[in-house]
Amino acid sequence: QETVQNAILEHKTEQFHQSGLLPILHAIQDRLGFIPADATPIVAKALNLSRAEVHGVITFYHHFRQEQPAQTIVQVCRAEACQSMGAEALWKHACQRASNDGGNSAITLEPVYCLGLCSTAPAMSVNERPYARVNAARFDQLLKRHQD
Ligand code: FES
Repeated sequence: QETVQNAILEHKTEQFHQSGLLPILHAIQDRLGFIPADATPIVAKALNLSRAEVHGVITFYHHFRQEQPAQTIVQVCRAEACQSMGAEALWKHACQRASNDGGNSAITLEPVYCLGLCSTAPAMSVNERPYARVNAARFDQLLKRHQD
């Protein structure tokens, strides 16, 4: 609650209630790793918005997580340049790994839409560290490196 209140105080703007919303949500996720459900009514009240409006924004942007992520956050690029270089196979492999490891929730797997590494596609990131030219074997290697 304190984290949510601080984020509101730092980013609330007086002119347009809605314009403070995205920076507040970003600040909460940066600090907690996700937007907890009980943050929605607090943010809505502070900005004089309805809960549905705040919830709508959280669900519209796939950047925002609604659940606490695992320790290892893997993002696989699913945008066009990566798709054309085999990102679909990489995504399928990643899904398989995530569901195999899912029992102990070792990985949070998320799609992203461009990591700025289009010329060296396919790209992924592990805990925000970007990697280029990733295939299934390299995916496993990188994951192992981050989890050891
Ligand atoms: Fe994947 Fe740009 S499209 S990094």
